[in-house]
Amino acid sequence: MHSDEELGSFIRLLTLSKKEGNILELGTGTGMSLSWILDGLDPNGKVTSIENDPDCLDVARSFFAKDHRVSFVQEDAKTWIKKNSTLQFDLIFADTWAGKFSCLNKTLEMVKPGGFYIVDDLNQQENWPEGHQDKVLSLVETLKNKNQFFVLQIDLGSGIMILCRKPL
Ligand SMILES: C[S@@+](CC[C@H](N)C(=O)[O-])C[C@H]1O[C@@H](n2cnc3c(N)ncnc32)[C@H](O)[C@@H]1O
Repeated sequence: MHSDEELGSFIRLLTLSKKEGNILELGTGTGMSLSWILDGLDPNGKVTSIENDPDCLDVARSFFAKDHRVSFVQEDAKTWIKKNSTLQFDLIFADTWAGKFSCLNKTLEMVKPGGFYIVDDLNQQENWPEGHQDKVLSLVETLKNKNQFFVLQIDLGSGIMILCRKPL
């Protein structure tokens, strides 16, 4: 379930555009997308990565625990978002349920002016459970109508949408 090379490379590029960027990743997995983020992140930047599965986090930590720019949080992403909704980020990669299909507005409020919000896995996949396609279509429509953002849907990797908060 890790992010593919095209998406990783795109996220690295966006991260690189943010000097001393403050990045949030929802859903660390084993750290594949995190490796792309870190590759583009300023030496004085930071990334907070949220994951509820300790086994996944162990793998990610085995690669990046010594990188002072990374803070790993083992917690349910929904709980974390609710507790931290006043924080502001330059880029949010929402790669788990919360921040995408739940807590969407709270997560979008955490994007700084000029900052990015990215979701992937929008192209239909054979292994999706019944009803998931409708959820994705609804998410895409909702995101397209977020007027505080410039919105772009791109057929890249598994299908992504990128939102950039309009400057104040
Ligand atoms: C698509 S994977 C993340 C992949 C990773 N971002 C990458 O591209 O390499 C989604 C991750 O979200 C985690 N997850 C699922 N439910 C969660 C929750 N409620 N809170 C935090 N993490 C969760 C899963 O354990 C899984 O590792």
